[in-house]
Amino acid sequence: MAEIHPNEIVVVKSENTKINSVDFSNLIFGRVFTDHMFICDFEDGKWQPPKIMPYQALTIEPSARVFHYGQAVFEGMKAYKDANGNIFLFRPDENFKRINKSAARLAIPEFPESYFFEGMKTLLKLDSDWIKPGIGNSLYIRPFVIATEPAISASPAATYRFMIICSPAKAYYNEPVRVLFAEKYSRSADGGVGFAKAAGNYAAQFYPTSLAQEKGFQQIIWTDASTHEYLEEAGTMNIFFRVGDKLITAPNNDRILDGVTRKSVIQLAEDLGIDYEVRRVSVKEIKSAAKDGSLKEIFGAGTAAVISPVSAFEHGGDVFEIPEIENAYASLFKKTLMDIQHNLSEDKHGWRHEVR
Ligand code: COI
Repeated sequence: MAEIHPNEIVVVKSENTKINSVDFSNLIFGRVFTDHMFICDFEDGKWQPPKIMPYQALTIEPSARVFHYGQAVFEGMKAYKDANGNIFLFRPDENFKRINKSAARLAIPEFPESYFFEGMKTLLKLDSDWIKPGIGNSLYIRPFVIATEPAISASPAATYRFMIICSPAKAYYNEPVRVLFAEKYSRSADGGVGFAKAAGNYAAQFYPTSLAQEKGFQQIIWTDASTHEYLEEAGTMNIFFRVGDKLITAPNNDRILDGVTRKSVIQLAEDLGIDYEVRRVSVKEIKSAAKDGSLKEIFGAGTAAVISPVSAFEHGGDVFEIPEIENAYASLFKKTLMDIQHNLSEDKHGWRHEVR
């Protein structure tokens, strides 16, 4: 794979910054973008020299395949700043591996590792003022690839654009979320693209989620497409259940996104001596645990969502409220994770990656 040195990345700096117009204490997720963006095009069978430019609109032909066939994948990552101004990424190698796994499933060419890391580091250093220190602050990083070839025959494109844009972020969900367990619609199926961060996986959730929202539920916990009996993931996050003191989450399969936060929570459960099981979780068992009082918590885990508690779920017309408890696992995992991300605690698994 091609290698690149940071000096070889062409940087066109923005003449002015938007940063002074941003209210960093009132951020809505994903609305404001930093001053620069990273661009790399795939042409003539290879990734061309990348560049960093002022954040701006793109000119892409309306016939570009991405608009017709959704040939697009993305990632979600975050950068954090500690009190000394050092910048850290969290397990970025996992995102790099995953974007290429997603790309392969969508017939998109693999992106070179050094382009990914050198490009991202150069961009973060340039826009470092946008990364605010302090727990709860982060810079959300969105790498993505789109098929740009202007041709509408249904086949993989010959040209692509890899980009990275960044957005200062606080919480994705400000309140605990109310969820529906899916009974009719499905997010993914065996042999499909559910494991990939494919753009279309998200679009396909919008309509059923809007129906859930009309009923007062912000999210859907997706169930397996064939029986709707097993709980899988929540679309914006993976999902964990606490029954008694046991933590349970579904195993990865080709329908579920292999979440970086999910795998970190499982490792932290191990570190903290919390009893956990990675196995299929049925709707039936969670409903009966809710009825007999042993269901203590449900929470989601994701890069944007971090750890987000679920306060109620609905299934088959029954609504179960999940009262807040003291010493919640959700709070423990959130604090443990954020302390590592913000360089406030020991990083015994080597998850922090300093941007120098
Ligand atoms: C992320 O957590 O990074 C995601 O991509 C989820 C998205 C809904 C913001």
